[in-house]
Amino acid sequence: MTARILDGKAIAAEIRGETAQQTADWVAKGGKQPCLAAVLVGSDPASEVYVRNKQRACERAGIDSQLHRLDASTSQAELIAVVERLNNDPHVDGILVQLPLPAGLDEREILDVVDPMKDVDAFSPENVGLLVQGRPRFLPCTPHGVVQLLKRCQIPVPGKHVVVIGRSDIVGKPMALLLAARDGTCGPEAANATVTIAHSQSDDLEGIVRSGDIIVAAVGRPEMVRGSWLKPGAVVIDVGINRVGDRLVGDVHFEEASAVASAITPVPGGVGPLTIAMLLQNTLMAAKLKTG
Ligand code: GUN
Repeated sequence: MTARILDGKAIAAEIRGETAQQTADWVAKGGKQPCLAAVLVGSDPASEVYVRNKQRACERAGIDSQLHRLDASTSQAELIAVVERLNNDPHVDGILVQLPLPAGLDEREILDVVDPMKDVDAFSPENVGLLVQGRPRFLPCTPHGVVQLLKRCQIPVPGKHVVVIGRSDIVGKPMALLLAARDGTCGPEAANATVTIAHSQSDDLEGIVRSGDIIVAAVGRPEMVRGSWLKPGAVVIDVGINRVGDRLVGDVHFEEASAVASAITPVPGGVGPLTIAMLLQNTLMAAKLKTG
């Protein structure tokens, strides 16, 4: 079998086009142009790239963007003051604090300060709680991107066994919630999957992965999932982005997996571009929520 390649880049472009149209319609009706404020502390090279891509995507979708660059030596109190200023700025609809923060800053405390109505990452306790209860405000960007990818590639999810590898707050946990949700509780997508959360400490990880119809790998270990671990015909969604020498690789061994899977996302060009597309959607929603 040679797996079908799931082109996240093309789907992200489609979603960004829809957001651009929705933004133009909103502004034409007298709505305020949405504005996303990104906060970048220090100069982590990967974060620089993400932030640049976010700004470019905003510009193309007709969304205003601000970048607040702070020195790596910024103190906790200074960073909190910046976030509070953005919370109180009526022009700013969405706030994104780029992670990871430099060592010494308490990530959780900073994210707790972001106004939940402007929390377009959906990282705040209030927004996580609403998602857990099946009445989300903002959907977390990467997991929502994966759901959109599955939907737009017409991959059936209801009733399927999805194995999510990884239990992070950003991807693994919310991914599992979205996929297990009842119809309609996390947007119009019917998820209704049977979900297993596995991780690096799971006994017989290989056996668990082999029982999955759909695998979502978000464990942050380069090429950890081998082709021999997969059920023939499985669908593989690789959220990992790992730098190995001068190559970017996922959490799945792509060549091996493509010989066994029925469909697979490439790295790069799979899930990555969808995160930004869903962030733009959330920023437009934040602008609309403020008015509505
Ligand atoms: N760093 C890597 N991914 C993300 C993300 O989705 N949001 C933020 N704020 N930082 C990140």
